[in-house]
Amino acid sequence: MKPSRRSEVAPFFVMEMMKAADERAAAGVDVFHLEVGQPTTAAPEGVRRAAAAALIDDRLGYTPALGIPELRERIARWYDERYGVAVPTDRVAVTVGASGGFVLAAVAAFDAGDRVGITAPGYAAYRNILRALDLEVVSVGVDAATRFVPTPERLEAALPLDGLVVASPSNPTGTMLTRDELVAVARWCAEHDVRLVSDEIYHGISYGAEEVSAVELWDEAVVIQSFSKYFSMTGWRLGWTILPAGLVRPVERLAQNLFISAPTLSQLAGIAAFDCVEELDGNVARYRDRRRIVLDGLAAAGFEEVAPADGAFYVYARVDHLGDATELCRRWLDELAITATPGIDFDPDGGHRWVRFSYSESTDQIAEAMRRLVAWARDRSRHRGG
Ligand SMILES: Cc1ncc(COP(=O)(O)O)c(C=O)c1O
Repeated sequence: MKPSRRSEVAPFFVMEMMKAADERAAAGVDVFHLEVGQPTTAAPEGVRRAAAAALIDDRLGYTPALGIPELRERIARWYDERYGVAVPTDRVAVTVGASGGFVLAAVAAFDAGDRVGITAPGYAAYRNILRALDLEVVSVGVDAATRFVPTPERLEAALPLDGLVVASPSNPTGTMLTRDELVAVARWCAEHDVRLVSDEIYHGISYGAEEVSAVELWDEAVVIQSFSKYFSMTGWRLGWTILPAGLVRPVERLAQNLFISAPTLSQLAGIAAFDCVEELDGNVARYRDRRRIVLDGLAAAGFEEVAPADGAFYVYARVDHLGDATELCRRWLDELAITATPGIDFDPDGGHRWVRFSYSESTDQIAEAMRRLVAWARDRSRHRGG
């Protein structure tokens, strides 16, 4: 018997790169990882301590489908502390990472066949999840002409739409929408009756630009959030969504059936995460240094077009003056022991011209990788020139 047609989603090319990198590492080569999209730090100490205590003291049974009340309350308070906005606790749903939150939100908000816009480049898994749910994915192209963010003009061209997914800071570009840009998108969605899903998973990791949550702007927007990035808790599989009032009950019913609840140990420990800001901001300070190293390195290596790297830990650089992105990534692995992610993972049409460099790994690794890349680029242009 054959698998379903809707399971025919694209593989993640970055996984192929990781596999090749593992093979090289097994052969004794030190590989410099600029493909990794996760913090290399552990969860903050307060979280680990809370987890250790819960492991001994708590029964760790199922929780209510929308999460432990204390965690939901703490998340609501976070919105007051960070954004100065009052979010009612009953609109907070605790989820299995942003990934679980996105599945719940998409099933609750859309019907099979609905058209949902997603930026290209954009996070590949969302595109694939929507496809697997029998939704029609509509690419909304973003590029230098739109400062790499969706604009009402680009959205207009994608009509008709039932939904729109935006991420700020974005993966793979790191680009953030300004308050005015997000207001324009939210207003456009309200006028066109389009459900806005705002992925804010990289909030907390930004370098000067204002972080604006869609929850400040429109109570019909769905906010997707996670403990994976700023809170440095990828493997704890914990996230949350802020839901419009009308989606709370549908999401609760779906969560009861699909997941029962998010991991209890992670929920109990996650409450402590919001009081670990000093440690977490220390991680961000290191990302800030690495970002500078990558931006300076890419400039020295002659990469002239780079998307605004406002946040997250990614730089998205245009590479087509050197060749096809996937070929280049293979070559860099073979010749320089550097792994990076070809843009094709994020943009099926234009991604072959771009590479995502992640700087979540250690500063030493990033610095050495950039040194090698600059030397390679200079060597190459010397040979071309002479
Ligand atoms: C933009 C974006 N959204 C969502 C996710 C999924 O994260 P989680 O670990 O919370 O499921 C990722 C993971 O890399 C991401 O980059």
